[in-house]
Amino acid sequence: EKGTYEHFMLKEIDEQPFVIRNIIQKYQDEDGDIKLEEDIRAAINHSDRIYILAAGTSYHAGLVGKEMIEKIGQKPVEVHIASEFLYNQPLLSEKPLFIFISQSGETADSRGVLVNVKKQGHPSITITNVPGSTLSREADFTLHTYAGPEIAVASTKAYTAQMAVMSILAMDIARARDIESDFNAIQQLGLAANAMETLCDQKDVMEGIAKEYLSETRNCFFIGRALDYHVVLEGALKLKEISYIQAEGFAGGELKHGTIALIEEGTPVIAVTTQNHVNLNTRGNLQEVVARGAKPCVIASEINQQEGDNIVLPDMHEVMTPIVSVIPLQLISYYAAMHRGCDVDKPRNLAKSVTVE
Ligand code: F6R
Repeated sequence: EKGTYEHFMLKEIDEQPFVIRNIIQKYQDEDGDIKLEEDIRAAINHSDRIYILAAGTSYHAGLVGKEMIEKIGQKPVEVHIASEFLYNQPLLSEKPLFIFISQSGETADSRGVLVNVKKQGHPSITITNVPGSTLSREADFTLHTYAGPEIAVASTKAYTAQMAVMSILAMDIARARDIESDFNAIQQLGLAANAMETLCDQKDVMEGIAKEYLSETRNCFFIGRALDYHVVLEGALKLKEISYIQAEGFAGGELKHGTIALIEEGTPVIAVTTQNHVNLNTRGNLQEVVARGAKPCVIASEINQQEGDNIVLPDMHEVMTPIVSVIPLQLISYYAAMHRGCDVDKPRNLAKSVTVE
């Protein structure tokens, strides 16, 4: 039920801190250690490379999951769009392990790949919000995202939950491989949940940005580098699917290789900059578009903050920032769609689960 909310989407955005805390509880044992099936650990340990398969928003979560697992767990990961992999399978490593990320667990493109890799004899894990779903039943193992039912077609809490579960997985992989690391996923998720709450309390700011930047425009660009790049892909997808504004997410350095031709006087460009080592690069990329008339909106972490930035995020571990930095993007999209009179929870041409190839 929506309760006092006008839309499920806003309710689900607001639920995210609770979802993260719920995940912490579910994946923690009495001693505060990570609780994971031994067989999942063994399967991951036995593999030499992880292949993440997903579609849409779940694919964007997979891109972040790769960074978490590679940076924390130091295990190689590839991320693939399921519909592409299905008919164009790349060369696999000797001992691949497949992770399917799917909110619904019913996505036909992902299922097609699962059927194939099972035939090939490879082990599989499904990360899903629906444990009894097809992908969950057919994979060897399931990791539950515990986000509760997601009703709005545009995915919000399921996406952050997927990344949260992968941060736990990344830490577990690091442990299993005896990698020295001070990364504590449980602790970091606690911080992320608090930060999410702070951002959810700033709805007036996000609504103001939506009004100022997006009420008239026909397009919008998002830029970011490193992990911020993966988040801006999701920000752009959210905006286009519910507000019908043409939106594209770009790696900051790539815009000048062609797309900059689309920048006109007043074109909104939303930059996310949380990764300290590329902050100045992203700022430079922003300058390039501002010089061509773009109207910049900057979402920066505290450490990277500069005068005039629109939203400041609390500092966190670099691989955890996507869980938090996506909140303003979700809210900005929500208010943009609202102001433009769109059907926020049921955007045109879209279905909640895509069970056809
Ligand atoms: C976008 C959205 C879709 C889904 C995609 C995969 O908001 O919800 O892009 O992420 O259709 O769906 P699942 O995760 O159910 O496999």
